[in-house]
Amino acid sequence: MDSRARLLLVLTALAGVMLVYILYQPARSVDRDTAEEQPPQLSDLPFHLSYINDETCLKCHFQEKELPAFDLVAPEMPHDLRKNCGGCHQLAVG
Ligand code: HEC
Ligand code: HEC
Repeated sequence: MDSRARLLLVLTALAGVMLVYILYQPARSVDRDTAEEQPPQLSDLPFHLSYINDETCLKCHFQEKELPAFDLVAPEMPHDLRKNCGGCHQLAVG
């Protein structure tokens, strides 16, 4: 085998290793994305009991909001705006 053929062989082997790496890399990150966390269920506070629409939820959860009358603080939602809050966050009762 002359040195050129050996170089070609090494390059082919390297390309093969890179191909395997590229092929398996996306598969792993897909796994991480689909492993959705469990959405927290809604406590039975009066304003959680009747789902009106997303805008109503956002009045309290777009930013952290204090509710002195209830002595509670509504946590800011930790994720991007997602539609249909109630589809994921269901009431803990029932
Ligand atoms: C009037 C304000 C208000 C509205 C409207 C409201 N929430 Fe809340 N939410 C709160 C408060 C206050 C807490 C914190 C309760 C606690 O600390 O016990 C909370 C807690 C939560 C939590 C954490 C789990 C829990 O219940 O403790 C989620 C999830 C949540 N709200 C989602 C929603 C969704 C979805 C809607 C629309 C259906 C909504 N909220 C409407 C005030 C509100
Ligand atoms: C696709 C499902 C999904 C949708 C739709 C969704 N959420 Fe969430 N939410 C989650 C998950 C999962 C968490 C857990 C924390 C995280 O995402 O890291 C969470 C966390 C929260 C929390 C924090 C609760 C705590 O105890 O700190 C609030 C508040 C909240 N969401 C409000 C909302 C509101 C308001 C909407 C609608 C505008 C909404 N969510 C739509 C899945 C969802």
